[in-house]
Amino acid sequence: MKNNKENSEKIALIIGGSRGIGRAIALRLAQSGFNIWLTYRGNHAAAEMVKAEIEQTGRLCETLCFDISDYEETETALGEKTEARAPDVVVYNAGITRDNLLVWMTREEWDAVLSTNLDGFYNVMHTLLFPMLRAKKGRIVVVSSTSGQIGQAGQVNYSASKAGLIGAVKALAREVGKKNILVNVVAPGVIETDMTKGLPKDQILPLIPLQRFGSPDDVASVVNFLCSEEHMYIHGQVIGINGGLAI
Ligand SMILES: NC(=O)c1ccc[n+]([C@@H]2O[C@H](COP(=O)([O-])OP(=O)(O)OC[C@H]3O[C@@H](n4cnc5c(N)ncnc54)[C@H](OP(=O)(O)O)[C@@H]3O)[C@@H](O)[C@H]2O)c1
Repeated sequence: MKNNKENSEKIALIIGGSRGIGRAIALRLAQSGFNIWLTYRGNHAAAEMVKAEIEQTGRLCETLCFDISDYEETETALGEKTEARAPDVVVYNAGITRDNLLVWMTREEWDAVLSTNLDGFYNVMHTLLFPMLRAKKGRIVVVSSTSGQIGQAGQVNYSASKAGLIGAVKALAREVGKKNILVNVVAPGVIETDMTKGLPKDQILPLIPLQRFGSPDDVASVVNFLCSEEHMYIHGQVIGINGGLAI
């Protein structure tokens, strides 16, 4: 594992780092010595709080506010940022849900989820890939979901977007492996964040062999491993973090 000093000139870009899982990943990578570029959509107060927490660890943090579903906004924000140098690590974490049974699902609910979760991947990665290819190194971790692996009733839009990310990463891994860019997916189960506040947890808990919901730190430790470990031969893989919900 790289020690903190070696990592200190490295930059981790966290897409969607202001809350929940992204916040925990940003803090964990800062503890491992990375300086952080942290993006978010609109929650300035939350982003500023994470920035302050990161700076308390002695690392630098810059915040960038833009909507990943908007190509031009994304290209402007990340294009400027990566002109001088590429990030060493990219964690594509931002995502939303708009749950409904498909028979009731509106076109807006479908479009909102697909344009953020899946089009956002294109918008972000298309902007970052040239600088990363030039650097001839890097790690990319994409946050999918158990829903994208096994499907979830009421989440046809979300499951499609998260399964799409898995396909996209597998293909991208074949494109960029020879450039020493390692790309993997983590697929969390039910993690306690703002996103899962309204779920019927009493009905879900019996389905989880570990008999607890996940914490953002459970996800952050796996992402940190994928990004910080020097000897890494894991590439194009999907790592479930779900307490056994999907086996
Ligand atoms: N929680 C779970 O159980 C669970 C399970 C499996 C997978 N996941 C996935 O894990 C990721 C994080 O989930 P979470 O529970 O931590 O969510 P969360 O607490 O709702 O946080 C979402 C983050 O994404 C950002 N974001 C959302 N839409 C965006 C957009 N259009 N442009 C830019 N940033 C945007 C938010 O920024 P603002 O703060 O500015 O809104 C925030 O930083 C998501 O991809 C989610 O699908 C979560």
